[in-house]
Amino acid sequence: MPYHIGLIGGGNITETHARAARAIPGVEISAIHGTNAEKTSRLCREHGGTPYQNFDAFLKHRPMDLVIIGSPSGLHAAQGIAAARHGLHVLAEKPIEISTARADALIDAAKQSRVQLGVIFQDRRKPHIRQLKTWLDQGLLGKLLFVDARVKWYRPPEYYSNSRWRGTLALDGGGALINQGVHTVDLLLWLLGDVVRVQARTATLLHKIEAEDTAAAILEFASGALGVFHATTAAYPGYPRRVEITGTEGTVILEHDRIIAANLRNAPATLDSAALDENQSASTAAVTDFRGHQAVLEDFLQAIQQNRAPACDGLEGRRSLALIEAIYRAAKVPDRVDRSPQ
Ligand SMILES: NC(=O)c1ccc[n+]([C@@H]2O[C@H](COP(=O)([O-])OP(=O)(O)OC[C@H]3O[C@@H](n4cnc5c(N)ncnc54)[C@H](O)[C@@H]3O)[C@@H](O)[C@H]2O)c1
Repeated sequence: MPYHIGLIGGGNITETHARAARAIPGVEISAIHGTNAEKTSRLCREHGGTPYQNFDAFLKHRPMDLVIIGSPSGLHAAQGIAAARHGLHVLAEKPIEISTARADALIDAAKQSRVQLGVIFQDRRKPHIRQLKTWLDQGLLGKLLFVDARVKWYRPPEYYSNSRWRGTLALDGGGALINQGVHTVDLLLWLLGDVVRVQARTATLLHKIEAEDTAAAILEFASGALGVFHATTAAYPGYPRRVEITGTEGTVILEHDRIIAANLRNAPATLDSAALDENQSASTAAVTDFRGHQAVLEDFLQAIQQNRAPACDGLEGRRSLALIEAIYRAAKVPDRVDRSPQ
């Protein structure tokens, strides 16, 4: 069945959305909305569709079946709610929004309008990460004990200074944690289950932004496992995200989207390395390898066709935001040991 897609945002990630959409047979880009007329027109010239600066006019464009939202994070709910009320299915970039209250309003609006709502967490579609999820679901790691997740990324000063929204509380909702760390927070919840208790600190150590560029948290999972998590955009030159998961049956280490070690008592079969991700996420926001986004979009289109929820629907997409809110809250709690005991 042919699908007509509207793209919202018109910046960096909209380019990825356009390329991912065009890679799927039967999918056409019918309109692109952005506040930057020049960028939006260029995208339409390269990928098709009618450019719009006026959001209401964009929403009325037909044919259009769904929108993909790639605007600043703090606009996702307002734009998604408006699209849902126009009968359009909504696929929103991570994070779903910058507050759970707004995420809930979007989830409600999609339900009321009977349209599908999905959230883009492309890591969930990566082959090694799916393999790890299967191992965990099969109990190959045994009882989970400990996880160590580090997002030591780097963004140059211009990443923030050239942007009207990145690193702002109003439109980014925070900094390194909610924008970059959210991918790994989502993975931890998806792979290991809910977190029930959090201790945390955040700081602005390098960049000239109002939000944090560094966050550190101690997590207690509902399973009883403990975790340490940290995310930063201040670690020059930027290192691949690393997640080390230890259970009673051994340890698995994930670097970027690759399983680099699986030291388990019952060794699993060797891994397929054919389709690993080529993005340099540790040092750039550009997503040139769009296969992860394509896989998310393919699932979303099937969800529409089969009238079922997408693999990562609004409620799933909300989980990482709820934990991030808890980390921000915990970072404000002043209980700490100021000096080691003499
Ligand atoms: N899944 C991923 O790996 C991934 C990667 C990058 C970005 N993202 C997400 O995509 C969204 C956009 O990120 P981006 O890197 O494309 O940003 P960007 O700044 O490159 O693009 C955002 C676009 O939104 C438009 N815009 C509309 N209203 C605006 C406003 N009020 N203020 C500022 N700009 C406005 C701007 O014209 C801009 O071109 C964010 O939610 C981000 O978290 C996801």
